[in-house]
Amino acid sequence: MSSHSLQHKITINSLREMKAQGEKIACLTAYDVSFAQLLDQSGVDVVLVGDSLGMVIQGLDSTIPVTMDEMIYHGRVVSRGLKRALLILDMPFMSDATTQMAVENAGRFMKEAGANMVKLEGGADQRELVETLTRMGIPVCAHLGLQPQRVHKLGGYKVQGRDASTADKMLNDARVLEQAGADLLLLECVPAELAQRVTEQASIPVIGIGAGHQTDGQILVLYDILGISAGHIPKFSKNYMLQSDSIQQAVECYVEEVRQARFPDSQHSFK
Ligand code: KIV
Repeated sequence: MSSHSLQHKITINSLREMKAQGEKIACLTAYDVSFAQLLDQSGVDVVLVGDSLGMVIQGLDSTIPVTMDEMIYHGRVVSRGLKRALLILDMPFMSDATTQMAVENAGRFMKEAGANMVKLEGGADQRELVETLTRMGIPVCAHLGLQPQRVHKLGGYKVQGRDASTADKMLNDARVLEQAGADLLLLECVPAELAQRVTEQASIPVIGIGAGHQTDGQILVLYDILGISAGHIPKFSKNYMLQSDSIQQAVECYVEEVRQARFPDSQHSFK
């Protein structure tokens, strides 16, 4: 049976199996129970309650003000809509400022919001934290490349890893975080060739957003694929409503294009 059969509850083992079999992993964000249910029934493997909710739900201009309580509220309602998909919650800005805070907050995500995994921005500097969460039995998705919570330090929303030294650093970050126990890597706004190198090097699955089609899976912000996000739609995103008659069809079309590695094409990737 295919690892992504619709009856099969997705776990970290299924994601590893999908990578091993070369089956692409389809992921989307969600923020409420109705969309969560629709995504779950449309074959989406992983649902992320992203702190992108600051922008697409709250109308903020960055993810920085999003709080733990807001993440837990949305995480809890999304978890009620999922039977099959694995649920990841984003650790909001400063919720992981110390290891102790991160352990307490990640624990709240698991206990109060039904998370199956937590996502953290940051590179090799998060090694100790990932080791601690792993020891506590909390699965971790490490987020490399463009890290929106560090937008002010990065000087804007820019493609990351374009030169040899930043590319080498990203390869090293990926290696260190995997060794520390990360179960999943997410690469945001990374040149396709570098994302391919990270994916080939990693034995854990690598999910891309603006990282080309060679990663083990893809994620996009739900409201971007439905063409309803307020504000700027990134180059790497695609409005699936333009080729669909319903929201369900748009989501199914995205899942299908991800499975067949037809999304993203070169138009939605960075060189
Ligand atoms: O917050 C979010 O939705 C994310 C995705 C863009 C990957 O981190």
